[in-house]
Amino acid sequence: MDAFRIVGGHPLRGSVRISGSKNAALPILFSSLLGGSFTLGRVPCLRDVKTTLLLLEQLGIKNSGCHPAKASEEREDRWSESIALHEGDTSAFEAPYDLVRTMRASVLCLGPLLARRRRARVSLPGGCLIGARPIDMHLKAFERMGARITIHHGYIDAETDGLEGCEISLPYPTVTGTENILMAAVLAKGTTTIVNAAEEPEVTDLARFLVARGAKISGEGSSTIRIEGVDRLDSTDYTVMFDRIEAGTFLVGAALLGQGVRIEGVEHAPIASILDLLSAMGAEHESTPSSITLEAIRRPRGTSLRTLPYPGFPTDMQAQILPLMAIAEGPSSVVETVFENRFTHVMEMNRMGANIEIHGSQATVRGGSRLEGAAVMASDLRASAGLVLAGLIAEGETEVRRVYHIDRGYEAIEKKLEALGARIKRVQEDQP
Ligand code: EPU
Repeated sequence: MDAFRIVGGHPLRGSVRISGSKNAALPILFSSLLGGSFTLGRVPCLRDVKTTLLLLEQLGIKNSGCHPAKASEEREDRWSESIALHEGDTSAFEAPYDLVRTMRASVLCLGPLLARRRRARVSLPGGCLIGARPIDMHLKAFERMGARITIHHGYIDAETDGLEGCEISLPYPTVTGTENILMAAVLAKGTTTIVNAAEEPEVTDLARFLVARGAKISGEGSSTIRIEGVDRLDSTDYTVMFDRIEAGTFLVGAALLGQGVRIEGVEHAPIASILDLLSAMGAEHESTPSSITLEAIRRPRGTSLRTLPYPGFPTDMQAQILPLMAIAEGPSSVVETVFENRFTHVMEMNRMGANIEIHGSQATVRGGSRLEGAAVMASDLRASAGLVLAGLIAEGETEVRRVYHIDRGYEAIEKKLEALGARIKRVQEDQP
């Protein structure tokens, strides 16, 4: 298994280009199951994207630009950022356990399969380390739209004689739930209204992409989205939005160690809550319409934070902000409201010298700590990124193990950090 070996304390300088968003690319790729063809640009070379292409291939979607079976072994320098997809054979409708268990987002095939092929068989994703993560809201919405759903032997079996639009009021603004309903609704008969829809920029990116293909959608980016069903979608050429969580991760890196780090290929609005938090901790930044330059904060100040659905502070950035809070002057507190078990990185950070206590959904960070390098283990994607940032600021050597988590969602993070001046290399675990 791969690990990252990091020698901490080296300043970061220069510029880094942010990749296309994982969480925007995945639903857009899954929407290929709605039929027709399109070309998608700025597709990040990530394990989750490769898993998606493999699943789509099993479901009869052809692609040029990347052969998914080979992509799992291919190096990223042979990756094509632009992928053309088109519908081939439409007889398959099953997402098997072996793929769903490696990537929960596979559940995003449910909506488009039901809408286009009227049948879907998808392995029920189990809980994962960060929470139980049920998909009851997705399933209830499909039932309201006219699907018959049963669950047997760990599989969701869904079929319909044709989906029909209706009003769906979500108890919580679920991100992939909103995306799944959106995809189902574009080919459903009549009008669907999603009330209490997720407002995340990735949902808006999917809606804009579908509009570019001729879907009739309004209200995207707000809490009420209206979709008028159409018979078919046109082809288009679309570019995925930037990855706001990757951008946020590099912004924290700059706040820890930057000597003028320019984050390129970003827009301000989707990362406003992250920039606001960094400002509250003492960061100053300069921005152009597509870049942000940030220096290390000389004396970071502790602050309090609550993770929330967009436009609030993203849960996907909570682990990465903790190393900055650990070294800040004064205490900080973090309340995690989105997932019930998203503090697994805290024990590892405490082993590096942080002083963080967890009480239920709240972490209290004492502040004023000096982090020291240690061997630590990543337990999920964003937790790994938090540990890498902790390693960059720690004194001495840190080994972050099980970085296969980080490869799911960060494109060549060690190469990007190395280009900025970090001492980080990918090694085999336990390699001398
Ligand atoms: N929830 C339910 N029932 C449902 C759906 C959600 O109870 O039917 C609960 C969840 O258990 C959770 C909360 O609602 O407590 C929010 O879950 P949501 O459905 O919004 O999350 P998701 O769609 O499964 C996406 C991202 C996550 C990100 C969250 C929150 C993708 C592929 N995944 O997950 O990204 O943390 O939204 O913003 O878009 C990551 O990239 O590392 C990641 C975990």
